[in-house]
Amino acid sequence: MATDTGQFARHMTTIERHILDQQSAFPDASGSLTSLLYDIALAGKLIASKTVQAGLVDILGRQGATNVQGEDVQKLDVYADQTIFRLMDHTGRLAVMASEEHEGLIPIPKQYPIGNYVLLFDPLDGSSNIDVNVSVGTIFSIFRRVTAKGPGTMEDCLQPGRKLVAAGYVIYGSSTMLVYTTGNGVHGFTLNRSVGEFFLSHPDMRMPSKPKYYSVNQGYERYWSPGVLRYTRYLQGGDDAKSVPGTPQPPGLSLRYIGSLVADFHRNLLAGGIFFYPADRKEADKPHGKLRLLYEAAPLAFIAEQAGGYASDGRGNILDLQPKELHQRVPLFIGDKGLVQAAEKFVAHYDGVK
Ligand code: AHG
Ligand code: MN
Ligand code: MN
Repeated sequence: MATDTGQFARHMTTIERHILDQQSAFPDASGSLTSLLYDIALAGKLIASKTVQAGLVDILGRQGATNVQGEDVQKLDVYADQTIFRLMDHTGRLAVMASEEHEGLIPIPKQYPIGNYVLLFDPLDGSSNIDVNVSVGTIFSIFRRVTAKGPGTMEDCLQPGRKLVAAGYVIYGSSTMLVYTTGNGVHGFTLNRSVGEFFLSHPDMRMPSKPKYYSVNQGYERYWSPGVLRYTRYLQGGDDAKSVPGTPQPPGLSLRYIGSLVADFHRNLLAGGIFFYPADRKEADKPHGKLRLLYEAAPLAFIAEQAGGYASDGRGNILDLQPKELHQRVPLFIGDKGLVQAAEKFVAHYDGVK
């Protein structure tokens, strides 16, 4: 029987093989980025192994602390955070790390060599969903250091998304997938648990041209600006849906909201749609919404743009924002390019251009 070697070859492309192929596009690559991405894939496998056992092993529930974000830390948050640190701290590929779970920079321990890359990460995204068996994820950003030598600094971390060398996420759902970009398209890998390998399952991912879903927590409508409220009615396509100059007809989309950014983003990447977490005024310390620029919005914006989509803070491209602090929050509209651009027009029309 003639096997379709193309199909066979594709399903046998491991993430290691794919990264090496991608690396060949960077002739001066030292292999360090390739190894860094391997290590992230290994972290994903280890975290995945715990998420599928949640409930059987003592990994559920609160760890009893609150993190720098003032949120209850879940045990799986800690496990994910420590797993990534322990896999990365000694490899000599990183100058510095930063995590949602740590207030300040995470230095490379003195006994280990310093490298040229910077890793920022959300070790476990969607923590509120862990105990209720809903998909969660890990999000990562990789920059090249900007300082010449020595331990990495805050300057090495506070870089705009445009400078990202690689970005991606792992989603721990009905299957475990790793999705990443190094600026040459978006590629998805599915974990084959029986052999413990990620295999290429979604080469060259592109956002569908016809969006299906909008994704937002409508429980907070009372805190939104007039522009965001009108924009949401527009997406729904109801009787009170009105366009603003320069926007297409109201699309009349379905609502899907999981409450894990990675899961909501991933669904829209595959099915088409828009996710937004707008600026809200429910808490004084979150006038810019909830999501963090450096390890949630920017890495996913890089992926969105590479897949033909777009990401904005409601005024302009997320990738152009110059971060001022490590855990800086930013309003986020991400997904279908036309729908995100329409959001910018509603915000400008009703809320005024700041
Ligand atoms: P994290 O668990 O890393 O703090 O992220 C949770 C985020 C994001 O995953 C999700 O989109 C958002 O919180 C949901 O927030 P609400 O519960 O306010 O809708
Ligand atoms: Mn998160
Ligand atoms: Mn998190």
